[in-house]
Amino acid sequence: MKVLNMAERKRGWDPSQLRKYDIQLEEIPRLSCNDPRVEELISENKPVVITDTKLVSSALKWDIDYLEKNIGSGDFSVFLSRNHKFKYYDDKKLQDAGTEFTPSTKRVDMKFPEFAKKLRQWMRGDERLYLQQPLNNTVGPAIVEDFLKFNWEWVNGRQKKHSWGHLTSNLLLVAMEGNVTPCHYDEQQNFFAEVKGFKRCILFPPEQFDCLYPHPVFHPHDRQSQVDFEHPDYVRFPKFREVRGQEAVVGPGDVLYIPIYWWHHIESLMRGGYTVSINFWYKAGPMGQILYPLKGHQKVAIMRNVEKMLVEALQDTSQVGPLLRALVLGRYTFPNLEDSSESKDTNNE
Ligand code: FUM
Ligand code: FE
Repeated sequence: MKVLNMAERKRGWDPSQLRKYDIQLEEIPRLSCNDPRVEELISENKPVVITDTKLVSSALKWDIDYLEKNIGSGDFSVFLSRNHKFKYYDDKKLQDAGTEFTPSTKRVDMKFPEFAKKLRQWMRGDERLYLQQPLNNTVGPAIVEDFLKFNWEWVNGRQKKHSWGHLTSNLLLVAMEGNVTPCHYDEQQNFFAEVKGFKRCILFPPEQFDCLYPHPVFHPHDRQSQVDFEHPDYVRFPKFREVRGQEAVVGPGDVLYIPIYWWHHIESLMRGGYTVSINFWYKAGPMGQILYPLKGHQKVAIMRNVEKMLVEALQDTSQVGPLLRALVLGRYTFPNLEDSSESKDTNNE
């Protein structure tokens, strides 16, 4: 087993708590918010773990007992899963898909005390739970007070400096140890603030779209990778062998910047107890002047629009694949396209 380095030992987790994947990974930079490189990375849409922000210092006491006592009597969205994976699906697209698709997780409304009880009584082999609920006006006064004490100055400052759009929501996430949110991308900027326990975050840039094989846009699993990281099907997804990621383990007080359109896989460490996190999601800023060549995330946005246009024009999702294949196969997929033009030149000599 790997000998622990000092930083890992001090920060309260060890590598045996990480799930094993056959993926090449580098470390995401970990920098103090006072380090000017933080702003550089954010402006380049690159991930960074930011320390010392005090963004959610007032929430570091949000354990299950405190939340149960103070979070109020509203309904909370809780996902249930027979295994450790909680692959997101779009409710609206689920209706359109009819009976052809059955999600592997189920969403139920629960009051917080019921969730807390299930969490405390959970035994191996039981269904797993994952609470994911935007903070709203049903929360009690102590939570409102903690929320108002978030370091809004820091976070609003970043929003302004990097010309992001408005804050859309703060999602509260309470996960059981070992829960996994499989690889997906979001269409918003995200400051991911860790409050309790440790989460391992594996990120991939939007340029690796072709290695990660997202479901079609009309599918309930839109924006989610089809590749099962634990058992990759290299026959269906051969380019997954080439994927290169960056990872970080975040703990209480850390803020991970997850840039818009960056793929992320997030796991609560095994044998680490439950975790609590808060997402700060922001709309993308105005486009401004478009510079060429386009960046990876802009190309992803184009691909999404092309797919959506085809669904709209064909009015039948089953026709999208055949049309795209007719458009591309043998026309844009001829092997060594550049080489073939070179050999033509040679023939002309
Ligand atoms: O499980 C998670 O913490 C996922 C967060 C996200 O996708 O933003
Ligand atoms: Fe996400």
